[in-house]
Amino acid sequence: GELTVDTRAAGTKVSPNLYGVFYEDINHAADGGLYAELVQNRSFEFNAVDEPSYTGLTAWSEAERGATATLAISSEQPLNPNNRHYLRLDVTGDGTAGVSNAGFNRGLPLRKGERYELSLWARRADAAPLTVTAEAGSTVLGRATVRVKTGGWAKYTASFTASGTTDTGRLVVQAPAGRTDLDMVSLFPRDTFKGRENGMRADLAKMIADLEPQFLRFPGGCVANVGTYDPYADNQDRRRIYQWKETIGPVEERPTNFNFWGYNQSYGIGYYEYFQFAEDLGAEPLPVLSVGVNGCGENRPLTDEAGLARWVQDTLDLIEFANGPVTSEWGAKRAELGHPKPFGLEYIGLGNEEIYEQFFANYPKFADAVRAEYPDIKIISNSGQTSQGAWFDRMWQFARDQQADLVDEHYYNNTSWFLTNNRRYDSYDREGPKVFVGEYASQGNTFYNALAEASYMTGIERNSDVVELASYAPLLANVDYVDWTPDLIWFDNDEAYGSPSYHVQRLFATNVGERVVPSAFEGETGPVEDITGAVGLGSWNTAVRYDDVKVTAADGTVLLADDCSAGAGNWTPGLGTWTVQDGAYVQTAQIADARSTAGSADWSDYTIEVTARKTAGAEG
Ligand code: AHR
Repeated sequence: GELTVDTRAAGTKVSPNLYGVFYEDINHAADGGLYAELVQNRSFEFNAVDEPSYTGLTAWSEAERGATATLAISSEQPLNPNNRHYLRLDVTGDGTAGVSNAGFNRGLPLRKGERYELSLWARRADAAPLTVTAEAGSTVLGRATVRVKTGGWAKYTASFTASGTTDTGRLVVQAPAGRTDLDMVSLFPRDTFKGRENGMRADLAKMIADLEPQFLRFPGGCVANVGTYDPYADNQDRRRIYQWKETIGPVEERPTNFNFWGYNQSYGIGYYEYFQFAEDLGAEPLPVLSVGVNGCGENRPLTDEAGLARWVQDTLDLIEFANGPVTSEWGAKRAELGHPKPFGLEYIGLGNEEIYEQFFANYPKFADAVRAEYPDIKIISNSGQTSQGAWFDRMWQFARDQQADLVDEHYYNNTSWFLTNNRRYDSYDREGPKVFVGEYASQGNTFYNALAEASYMTGIERNSDVVELASYAPLLANVDYVDWTPDLIWFDNDEAYGSPSYHVQRLFATNVGERVVPSAFEGETGPVEDITGAVGLGSWNTAVRYDDVKVTAADGTVLLADDCSAGAGNWTPGLGTWTVQDGAYVQTAQIADARSTAGSADWSDYTIEVTARKTAGAEG
């Protein structure tokens, strides 16, 4: 074949910010992931009110070396009102006794020769030395002593060099006889990304940096806009919606929260760290804030004027925190935290997948206030997911009417969709808002998925006069806490690798041209077969392999969605019985069972979308 490239044509200018990353604390991306803290539940705030399996002692156990330890969680005279629980350690007998932390995943990782920074808050009626050891099995790999003084809460620090390597270690704190109150027991490797205190795990951050992202979208996703609106003081245990002001300042004063993805989040990575990380990456910070409407399946609108006014003000305060002079209230706060220079915020996301009426009422309050005070900030509205059907179109129209600068589109589709939608943006209106493809991925982590994405990204790049920003999602997944697949970077407590999609993202993002000029190919090309449609309903069809199955109720609610990329095994979600063969599902019992699962006797209530990939020679 012959490829002709018209190098003299003006072509399309490629957006300088086209490729970025979307970081969300999903799959334990923060605690036990990018956040370099090695101690799990360092503040003893895990709570059964959030998750029945939690206690204040989650990840902690007794460690007795001669003496006896009694562990209790106390809230009597806590460290501060945001950190209400701590460990009360009573030691009796000779020798020492204390408490051992199991770290995240399968244990605490330590690397020989590396320096580790320990800190803890303690309180004792009498002065006493605490011995802190990092251990693997019966071997001590690091040791430090802190001398607790008589009196109230105080912070103690020490450091040690690991004499060996492990990924199944633990951290043990021991005290002599008497009562010791302990809180914020923390261990960090000194070697964090760019050497930042309270910083990021170096290997994971480097993998992100290697993508040369031009923007960092954070903190979610569903993490950004699901929960109750009360501040921590009024609402101490339930999941609160992400409130940026709770996440800055000394880590011991940040209240932990229950993450949308089902685990405790320490907020150790908070808004200051996000801005700092964006700067370290050379990326534009792109925060997403709630407009007082939940999303992600939770319809919890904020309608009272006073409550909304507070949220609007918080949004304005965030911009001041990022960009304001040090003489402003929030600019001064930024300076106090160590960054007098403004962070140079240019984009703000207002909302994430709020397919609820209240969005249309609330969004203008936020957008108008931002426009009035900060006319140069680019406002990003959103359209939800393409799979949300009519809502997607309605939200796009709303964003046009509101004259949003960009619209955040999300889609998680199968490979056929990516292969056949290369021209999606060719016909987009060039006069309206630009597109931010804030979340996209083909459903799987195979080479074929990555290839389909690569093919699709040529369409994004060709249209980057209208697509200004694009980010794959999700970015990070801890192999031991998987909420969502596929993901770009996979890791455990001491290793990480990029999925094939990671390498495609990196290839594109590190080779961005200035213009896309017209090109044509003459020769033989392979066909892309699109056979999406309702297949196999009401009858068994063992000859067809399915990439994607979705059941949608008449109101657009997705009752069931599976990309069929899971590992081996059987799957019986109510859509018949399916068996995995070579990475795809084969239907082995008929689909009509969906009626019972979905709780309706009427098929007309549902739209069934099945994308089928036929095996060679199969009928279907
Ligand atoms: O990327 C995972 C989730 O997908 C995001 O939190 C949400 O915005 C979307 O539904």
